[in-house]
Amino acid sequence: MVCRDVEGLSRRAAEQFVALAQQSIVVRGRFAVALSGGSTPRALYSLLATSEFSGQLDWRKIQLFFGDERCVPPDHGESNYRMVQQSLLAKIVIPRENVHRMLGEIEPAKAAATYEDEIRKTFALTANQLPRFDLIFLGLGDDGHTASLFPASSALRETQALVASTYVEKFQAHRLTLTLPTINNAAQITFLIAGQTKAAVVKAILAGQGNEAPAARVQPTEGELTWLITADAAGDFGNS
Ligand code: 6PG
Repeated sequence: MVCRDVEGLSRRAAEQFVALAQQSIVVRGRFAVALSGGSTPRALYSLLATSEFSGQLDWRKIQLFFGDERCVPPDHGESNYRMVQQSLLAKIVIPRENVHRMLGEIEPAKAAATYEDEIRKTFALTANQLPRFDLIFLGLGDDGHTASLFPASSALRETQALVASTYVEKFQAHRLTLTLPTINNAAQITFLIAGQTKAAVVKAILAGQGNEAPAARVQPTEGELTWLITADAAGDFGNS
């Protein structure tokens, strides 16, 4: 779906969040969502915090997870948690235990294992069961990465673990990320993509040429996949 601009994309995503949350809470008594990081979703989270949207949400029944995190403390400028804290969490009333932060400040492999345990506990999973997130938001890097699944990353080949830690050469930094099995088991996956710099990778993936890109491997096994794209990120795709 092509949206006019980031504001239009954020509104569309916020409407989807509310609709899915209300439906999941009625059906399952709970809404489990994984938030994406980076800069694009900041406007969405700020919109969700407004009374127009937050007033429609029972945050006591919403479990907020993260799709990925930079291995930095939660108050670090690079922290996805900090971005969500500033744009959303600081403006809503949500039980602390409903916010599941990836521990970017501890040793990466231990942080990944700890987060996996937290997911298993919250979803009450049996040994080999995958969590089924009601909604996962994802971003897209201009290199085709999504969450912190970067091209050629070993995390892309992970078939068992729910969460992985990975060292990202280009950033000389460690990251934590949900793995493809976890992501692809979601009921709804929505990409939030804005900016002219993404136009080439969007076109390549949606035209089926970029199928080695990590984002191209996001294919829900039993769920819906939506690409929300701003006009500048859509470029001439669709006119081709
Ligand atoms: C992160 C994100 C990452 C992001 C893309 C797009 O931790 O950075 O999870 O996957 O979504 O890099 O980032 P922008 O929205 O800043 O373009």
